[in-house]
Amino acid sequence: SRSHPFYATTAGAPQGGIRTDPQRHCVFMTFDLTLGTATELQVLLARWSAAIAQLQAGETIGSVEPAHGDGVGADTGEALDLGPASLTVTVGLGPGVFDERFGLAGKRPADLAELPSLPSDRFESGLTGGDLSLQACADDPQVAYHAVRDLARMARGSATVKWTVLGFGRASAGPTQATPRNLMGFKDGTRNITTDADHDRFVWLDEDADWMAGGTYQVVRKIRMNLEIWDADVVSDQQRVFGRTKVSGAPLSGGQEHTTPDFHATAHGAPAIDPRSHVALAAHEANGGVKILRRGYNYTDGLNQYGQLDAGLLFVAYMNDPDHFTRLQRKLGASDRLNEYIAHIGSAVFAVPPAPRKGSYIGEQLF
Ligand code: HEM
Repeated sequence: SRSHPFYATTAGAPQGGIRTDPQRHCVFMTFDLTLGTATELQVLLARWSAAIAQLQAGETIGSVEPAHGDGVGADTGEALDLGPASLTVTVGLGPGVFDERFGLAGKRPADLAELPSLPSDRFESGLTGGDLSLQACADDPQVAYHAVRDLARMARGSATVKWTVLGFGRASAGPTQATPRNLMGFKDGTRNITTDADHDRFVWLDEDADWMAGGTYQVVRKIRMNLEIWDADVVSDQQRVFGRTKVSGAPLSGGQEHTTPDFHATAHGAPAIDPRSHVALAAHEANGGVKILRRGYNYTDGLNQYGQLDAGLLFVAYMNDPDHFTRLQRKLGASDRLNEYIAHIGSAVFAVPPAPRKGSYIGEQLF
């Protein structure tokens, strides 16, 4: 199976898992640091980086069967024989890394701060924030799970696990991939950032960002879908909610999936695309030209306490200013027809440093 290189060959190249064509599965986990010094953080990031390089190459991170007697395995073993499976592990640094604990406040990425509260916030306890994030994406779910599990194991004594989401089924597409569907049955990822020019303009931080040049910000929201209510809604209304047709994904102003929506078109005297539809509110045309790179996954947690489907979207987006998300979500949270069917139950923001060169590790420029 395919292997993505972990180390960058040029300075300021991005980590994998951002522009990488979305793999089929994702395990996302956040951690709180329990270690006390910058040096210990440096050791953790260096050990994680070396391990991620091995994992992305399809190797174990140490012996599964210790040679001598009764030692515990360095690698837990469940990804043996599965190959690299296109694994990428993306490491993020939360605002807490730059608080008074480690003396790194002077290196805080300029726009890294907890997100302000927003109208749509329905956070459940334990599902917010984190000092570190790991996003493992792979075409085999067990390869993604193994990566996060073994990296969490490596962090024991340095960090505690905070929250995690198991994503299956990508809900975004790379430029050459067919658009997948979210759990509401609609194509998701049709209008997303694809060109180099848009990546440079909206995703990557430039040289002004100093040690973060070539990095980006990661905004993560765990968004529950009220699927039982959604499934009882008539399809014509579902289409009005998104502003697109369900099967082809075409905008309600006409054409095919990739036809540019016409937000001024009318049908029977009314706007063809409802002004309170998700796409009318989220489109860059309605937001001063601003775009974000969406790279989400569907998730399920089984059934809730009432026996209803507990599932939704692990929304992950990358952008060179988290305020782009905040402004968009403030607007969606106030007016989006989709709000009736969703709840934002988890949230976090991270700075994602550029990929390291060989011999270095993620975040080395911090120390
Ligand atoms: C577009 C679903 C949450 C931003 C879309 C589309 C769907 C969709 C089906 C149309 C297809 C496409 O262009 O990709 C959902 C669902 C969500 C959700 C089910 C929650 C469960 C969000 C959030 C944001 C967002 C939280 C950002 C704050 C966008 C943007 C577009 C979009 C920017 C492209 C609009 C355009 O340019 O036409 N979403 N979305 N979405 N969504 Fe969402």
